[in-house]
Amino acid sequence: MDFISPDLQHYVSQHSSSVSELLARIDRETHLEVLQPRMLSGHFQGRVLSMLSHLLRPKNILEIGTYTGYSALCLAEGLASDGKLLTIDVNEELENRVRAYFEASDYAAQIDYQIGDAAQIIPTLQLKFDLVFIDADKQQYPTYYEQALEVLNPGGFILIDNVLWSGTVVDEKHQDKDTSLLRELNLKISQDERVEKVLLPIRDGLYLIRKI
Ligand SMILES: C[S@@+](CC[C@H](N)C(=O)[O-])C[C@H]1O[C@@H](n2cnc3c(N)ncnc32)[C@H](O)[C@@H]1O
Repeated sequence: MDFISPDLQHYVSQHSSSVSELLARIDRETHLEVLQPRMLSGHFQGRVLSMLSHLLRPKNILEIGTYTGYSALCLAEGLASDGKLLTIDVNEELENRVRAYFEASDYAAQIDYQIGDAAQIIPTLQLKFDLVFIDADKQQYPTYYEQALEVLNPGGFILIDNVLWSGTVVDEKHQDKDTSLLRELNLKISQDERVEKVLLPIRDGLYLIRKI
């Protein structure tokens, strides 16, 4: 969900950089052909991810939740020239589509796309990362957060998507599982002395966290 009006959202997008033809195609085809297209980061958040990645110039990026590959390709734009991006998704039905998108990109050689349960795969990784983007199963967010801290270099960053959960985190009448879990996690992170953090009200809420 967006916290600003559609007109302002349109203005913000219009005054941000445009995207590559490939990203525009992924956006269009995801909306036409894939279930739950709202999951795709989209133009504005994609440009934010790209800009943050350019600022950080990460050598290794871990993405949890590939979906159709849109955010992976945005993050890849800022990779160091010898950098790698590992992206994990449990949904094998999208595999062929996503592999074709990655192959058509400038980052094919830098992207490692793995199918499986991220919480199972991450503890087996040998690599350390400079940036981790968490955007998969909300019930696993606390696990992903701890796993991300484990595989992150000191000074590395975590980005967590959807932490405002359409604004329900501040509305006590919402006591469903996902809202309660995100409230607890946000509280935990806000009090966690292992990290510096700023919760950005971008799209559905993007927590930007730096491991000290
Ligand atoms: C919100 S979408 C990701 C959107 C994508 N990052 C983007 O911005 O374009 C969430 C994805 O997490 C994946 N997912 C759910 N549970 C998972 C798990 N246990 N391990 C890995 N991926 C999972 C889903 O299959 C889905 O594709």
